[in-house]
Amino acid sequence: PAPAGDFVPSPRPAGIEAMDWDALQAAVAGCRACGLCVGRTQAVFGVGSRTADWMVVGEAPGETEDRLGEPFVGPAGKLLDNMLAAIGLSRTIDDAIKAEADSAYPVGAGGQNGLKHGVYIANVIKCRPPGNRNPLPDEMAQCEPYLRRQVALVRPRIILAMGRFAVQALLNTSEPIGRLRGRVHHYQGVPVIVTYHPAYLLRALPDKAKAWQDLCLALTTVQSVADA
Ligand code: URA
Repeated sequence: PAPAGDFVPSPRPAGIEAMDWDALQAAVAGCRACGLCVGRTQAVFGVGSRTADWMVVGEAPGETEDRLGEPFVGPAGKLLDNMLAAIGLSRTIDDAIKAEADSAYPVGAGGQNGLKHGVYIANVIKCRPPGNRNPLPDEMAQCEPYLRRQVALVRPRIILAMGRFAVQALLNTSEPIGRLRGRVHHYQGVPVIVTYHPAYLLRALPDKAKAWQDLCLALTTVQSVADA
């Protein structure tokens, strides 16, 4: 793709695959490997428990995320938080610990089998695309090592891939969500459940029922991994 203005990309730092959290976060904050760095307020790294059993992967920061520096804090994020709460999960570590103590949700998300209530949330793309346009293939490729390292550091027991760009990045396929949901995929040995993006669900109420099925499949999958 044509660089934005006279922007000249700088290569990503070497050794991402061995970075610790601080080094990785600093690398993302200073990344100038694609043109998205020109228009961003800040790179949006990830949020939640870095030892979570659950990881959510979304697409890219929108306007609110770019401003606040946290994934999924706009309207789609509110729906995501509600979806996670429905299965006993929270990005807020204190809430996750409280849910574990209350143990109100015994299935999968609950305190049984050592499963934790925290969740780590990250996007495929760390910088906001202008006007929230779709990410370009080169932007996906440049950003991929950061997500790969985040997954390796968290080592979740399950990943929820939300929307087609998360699916493309994790499963390397452009099959539509409808053809991929309902079964267990894998990324780096971690089970992946495919579901709709919450921003899409805000516009497509009937598919909320399918998203609920996907969350239930994730629960049974993580439970069977924990039982194994
Ligand atoms: N949509 C995403 O995919 N990620 C965000 O962080 C916000 C909206």
